[in-house]
Amino acid sequence: MTDIRELLLSRIRDVADYPEPGVMFKDITPLLADPGAFTALTDELARIAERHAATKIVGLEARGFILGAPVAVRAGLGFIPVRKAGKLPGATLRQSYDLEYGSAEIEVHAEDLSAGDRVLVVDDVLATGGTAEASLQLIRRAGAEVAGVAVLMELAFLGGRARLEPALEGAPLEALLTV
Ligand code: PRP
Ligand code: MG
Repeated sequence: MTDIRELLLSRIRDVADYPEPGVMFKDITPLLADPGAFTALTDELARIAERHAATKIVGLEARGFILGAPVAVRAGLGFIPVRKAGKLPGATLRQSYDLEYGSAEIEVHAEDLSAGDRVLVVDDVLATGGTAEASLQLIRRAGAEVAGVAVLMELAFLGGRARLEPALEGAPLEALLTV
C-alpha cells in the first residue's frame, strides 16, 4: 500500500453496530480533522479530475460535499451539489433509486449541467452503488458527459462496482481505498 493510502486508512475510524446492529460504519471525521490527511486526499482526487479531463465536480450530499468542494477549488472547476430531494430552490431534475428498504430521491439544478460538461462525481463511500448510479443518470439527463466516479473508499463486499458498471458506460470508477 502506498504512503498516502496508509495515511488515509489510518484516519478512518470503524464504528461497530452503527447506525444499526451488524453494520460497521466508516467514520471519516478523524481524516477531516487532520489537515495533512485532508489535503492529501483533496490533492489525490484533484489529480483524478485532471487525469480524466473533468470540467465540473458533482458532490453527493452530504459527505460528498465535504470531499468534493475542496477538490473543485483545487482543480479550478465548478462544484455542483446533488442534493437529497426538496432542498434545491430552482428548476431541478429528480432521480429516484432503490435502497435496501424503500427508496430515495436526489436532485440537481438542471441549469448547472449541460452539453459539453465532463463531470467527475465525488463521494466518500461506494456501498451498494445506488446513490452513485442515480447521480450518473441525473448527469446524463442534464445532457452532460460522465468523466468518472471517484470515491475515498469502496466497500467491495457490497458489490457496488458491479451494479455501477453499466451506468458508467466505460467511464472510470476510482476508489482510493478498497475495504
Ligand atoms: C452514504 C455514503 C454514500 C452512500 C453510499 O450516504 O456517504 O453517499 O451512502 O451508499 P450506496 O452506495 O449504497 O448508495 P448517506 O446518504 O447514508 O449519508 P450522508 O448524507 O452522510 O452522506
Ligand atoms: Mg453520502
